[in-house]
Amino acid sequence: YKRITTKSLIEMKSNGEKISMLTAYDFTMAKIVDTAGVDVILVGDSASNVMAGHETTLPITLDQMIYHASSVVRAVERALVVVDLPFGSYQSDPKEALRSAIRIMKESGGHAVKLEGGKEIKESIKKILNAGIPVMGHLGLTPQSIYKFGTYSVRAKEDEEAEKLIADAKLLEKVGCFAVVLEKIPAHLAEQVAKSISIPVIGIGAGGGVDGQVLVIHDMLGMNNEFSPRFLRRYLNLYEEMTKAIGQYAADVKSSDFPNSGEQY
Ligand code: KIV
Ligand code: NA
Repeated sequence: YKRITTKSLIEMKSNGEKISMLTAYDFTMAKIVDTAGVDVILVGDSASNVMAGHETTLPITLDQMIYHASSVVRAVERALVVVDLPFGSYQSDPKEALRSAIRIMKESGGHAVKLEGGKEIKESIKKILNAGIPVMGHLGLTPQSIYKFGTYSVRAKEDEEAEKLIADAKLLEKVGCFAVVLEKIPAHLAEQVAKSISIPVIGIGAGGGVDGQVLVIHDMLGMNNEFSPRFLRRYLNLYEEMTKAIGQYAADVKSSDFPNSGEQY
């Protein structure tokens, strides 16, 4: 495989080739995602929800993100691995942001970091970029700010927030981010942003007028049947499949069906 780089993604945008991105948090899943040909693997702080069972992304720590990211990196041969800087690891000041980004790069071997926010964290992004670490932006519904928003509903429906989002996207491009995620905003706004900047815009719940798509792997595989936002397409119902398989195993053990004569030494 030819490795995907930040440069390949920018080329894909200029060639009109859509970018596929999925999350992964562990070695086995990352190996499958990479083998299947997904361009970008995001070690998202959504691990806080889907791996650890927290209600929000806020509790996950930098050490825990590094653990997930290093597991993913060991599996990946082709995809670009982007790692979320978790809440609290970059908001206080640019020096702390750089320290956190350096820890991720050194200790996990990831290829880039992602930070939530625009203008507010401009200096931090610049400092990280100056150290040679590629940065992906993230605007719109930024889950680390859930207590400010108070709801997970669609962002930037009003002009004021939409204008700030457009300005922030242009700022992220200008300071040198290689891509930006737009989460849960109106499709027409996301398309407008994608057309007005040269770096790839990866959407989640942001419609088809952007340069690529990202989903949380547990959601698109249908491993949880509670979370059903409109933007989610389920490619499997693994919750049902796995529950059935595991239930069968338990029953086979109870009935002494497993192991049979061929399944022993
Ligand atoms: O943590 C995550 O999974 C993300 C994506 C939803 C973009 O940030
Ligand atoms: Na995230």
